[in-house]
Amino acid sequence: MIQTIRGFRDILPEDTALWQAIEKTASKLFEDFGFKEIRIPVIEKTELFARSIGEATDIVEKEMYTFDDRKGDKLTLRPEATASVVRAYIQHSMGASDAVQKLYTIGPMFRRERPQKGRYRQFYQINSEVFGIESPYIDAQLILILNELFKRLGLSELEAHINSLGCKECRPTFQKELLNFLNGKKEHLCENCLRRMDKNPLRTLDCKVPECRAAMADAPSTLNHLCEKCKDHFETVKSVLNEQHVDFIVDKTLVRGLDYYSRTTFEILTTALGAQSAVAGGGRYDALIKELGGPETYGIGFAIGFDRLAEIVAQMLNDAKMRAHNASDAKEFQDKNLYAAEFLKLVSIKTPDIFIIPLGEKATRLAYMWTSALNIAGIRTETDYSGRSLKSLMKRADKLNADFVLIAGDKEIEDNALVLRNMRTKEQYFITAENPVEQLETFLNRV
Ligand code: HAM
Repeated sequence: MIQTIRGFRDILPEDTALWQAIEKTASKLFEDFGFKEIRIPVIEKTELFARSIGEATDIVEKEMYTFDDRKGDKLTLRPEATASVVRAYIQHSMGASDAVQKLYTIGPMFRRERPQKGRYRQFYQINSEVFGIESPYIDAQLILILNELFKRLGLSELEAHINSLGCKECRPTFQKELLNFLNGKKEHLCENCLRRMDKNPLRTLDCKVPECRAAMADAPSTLNHLCEKCKDHFETVKSVLNEQHVDFIVDKTLVRGLDYYSRTTFEILTTALGAQSAVAGGGRYDALIKELGGPETYGIGFAIGFDRLAEIVAQMLNDAKMRAHNASDAKEFQDKNLYAAEFLKLVSIKTPDIFIIPLGEKATRLAYMWTSALNIAGIRTETDYSGRSLKSLMKRADKLNADFVLIAGDKEIEDNALVLRNMRTKEQYFITAENPVEQLETFLNRV
């Protein structure tokens, strides 16, 4: 039996309803905030990621799926979307028609990490990028959008962490001070940190090795080295978020795992998947567009880990089911999730409106015709072609949880009287055989 490869998985129909509902909720929110969708390839030249994410990052050093194509070009399955969106922005001179571009894209990314709960080698991201705006209002707005999306999905216990990494003016002084600090800690640092220290000392702040973390506890912070412009920028982000009642924690250790960031960076953290992990991350990358050969343009964005998000939303919905058995908990849960009511409606399982039970050969052909016509008219209808008995098809209608059954035996067709039965109330109606589609459409619109 051939199975999926390690870290890759199928998202099965019992889960895709939830995925689709999340995707609809996110796209609607993006569109309402003026974002437009962009679709980009899953494979790009390796150089694009190496140059943007940074040669000394975990992603580029050890996690990319890179291969030579038949002509010897080095290609990579995209580990993230930002580099590709920036490439598209430059390649299509998108800034020429309108300097401000707000884009979103949803799709699979690939990183060869050690798989565990919430961490896969093919995972999905909901990604947004904004070009052409320097103002801190857009930084705050992106964090607001994340906050709003999580609210609409009924999620509460998430923590927004924010930091500022400074800009090309203030970063060098900070890096010098950090390097001094690191030189005094050399014997406590892992090989990786020692190797990366000179290339990009900021990477050491992101190391997960416990000894490094301990050694870095009192490392200098970018926040103490911001230039006046960066300080003002960050102050505005914070004050706007406060005014909009978006909770956040200033986290001086938040440097992110990709090299292109400057000024504001942020992550949304959860403990719902075990150890604390990020559901979303992002920040500014004001130098990246120029570095990749484009015009000098501001850039900022974020990506949400779709798999992680779907897992915590599923947990929340399971919780809701458990709570439904306990009246006071259910009330509390409902109050908290009133905001997510639209989303909860989207997730509700779609069952057939009508199940047509054909009895006899002629009836089966008609049932097929009617089912197709009803499906085209937007009425969820199922039928069965197996020639099974009325009793066994009633059981099937029950299993599918159909609202109505339409019994169409050869005899009923001849008598011009089909039986329509409400499966909940057991009430019965008669429908004529010549034009059941129109009758059912009107009937269902009435009930
Ligand atoms: P990132 O922090 O590398 O940022 O990834 C964003 C999110 O993707 C993470 O917070 C996490 O939820 C999810 N994620 C990452 N790796 C995995 C994995 N192996 N399995 C499951 N989920 C994962 C970026 O990718 C940047 N491009 C974000 C960005 C956009 N910055 C500016 N614009």
